[in-house]
Amino acid sequence: MLIKKPDDIVPSEITDKKTYLNRRQFLQEAGLYAAAGAGSLLLPVSAQAAVTHNKNGLYKDIATGPYATNEKLTSYKDITSYNNFYEFGTQKQAPKFMAEKFVTKPWSITVEGECDKSGVYNLEDFLKPADLEERIYRLRCVEAWSMVIPWIGFPLHTMLKKFQPNSKAKYVLFETLHDPKQMPGQKRAVLDWPYVEGLRIDEAMHPLTIMAVGLYGEQLPNQNGAPLRLMAPWKYGFKNIKSIVKIHFTEKMPVSSWMKSASSEYGFYANVNPNVDHPRWSQARERRIGEDGFFSKKRKTLMFNGYGEQVASLYNGMDLSKNF
Ligand code: MTE
Repeated sequence: MLIKKPDDIVPSEITDKKTYLNRRQFLQEAGLYAAAGAGSLLLPVSAQAAVTHNKNGLYKDIATGPYATNEKLTSYKDITSYNNFYEFGTQKQAPKFMAEKFVTKPWSITVEGECDKSGVYNLEDFLKPADLEERIYRLRCVEAWSMVIPWIGFPLHTMLKKFQPNSKAKYVLFETLHDPKQMPGQKRAVLDWPYVEGLRIDEAMHPLTIMAVGLYGEQLPNQNGAPLRLMAPWKYGFKNIKSIVKIHFTEKMPVSSWMKSASSEYGFYANVNPNVDHPRWSQARERRIGEDGFFSKKRKTLMFNGYGEQVASLYNGMDLSKNF
């Protein structure tokens, strides 16, 4: 997320040949998808086609999970070349190149705080194919652009339950790897490293929330947060912390990196909310990366990024203009 420059340049609108061919194959395999048009945003599983797998990808046989949208997918190229990952530079084009050699194997996750099964876990333990699902979710960035991404992942609650959080676990804090040798962006004080984010425990346990380990049927590219990153699709992109090495159950609301950096601009909840402007720009409309030309009309941003039916009740009684 760039806090100083809302009007970033669009990534290349030109689709390379490989992406174009993959996309064509995908469309051929997905008559249903093409015909589904812009109907309801959320379809039951039965109405969706399990269509997005890269047939050669590591995750080619992963089942389609619930809650996926039927919107047109953003191209693999755009998803992987227009990124926010400040550990690898603040320019959108930087992470793709700067993260190329990032080592993500082996990978362990330290679990601590208010739970009975704290310890150090290997990521491998959570990658059983039977536990993985494909879910097509929108990612909506605070800078007013969005993408539709076929994520591969597992529901976060299946992971968290294994650690047996206790009754004091009201929030979950997540932390990204801190390794300036590998992550050159951490040599600059752009943020207070390591990147930290958090969810309230009911948000973390909500079935929409996943840990993503892949996209488009492939292992998660480094620039997208390999080997695992959060995906809570009703929240602004900055909540979806990448390359997670720590999970901490806590009684107190965590202070995220962006809250620390600019608390008047970035709140803990960060629910997509077209009615609450960012202090320096409107959040009412968004540009879909790759689809619209730079001068095309932006689309209206939906409350909770379109996932209100599933998550609005989590915020009953809260003033979402104050709890932004
Ligand atoms: N996680 C870490 N560790 N560092 C970051 O800079 N950027 C966030 C989020 N997770 C970020 C991060 C922001 S602002 C966005 S919009 C999304 O990642 C972008 O995810 P993408 O690059 O996969 O589209």
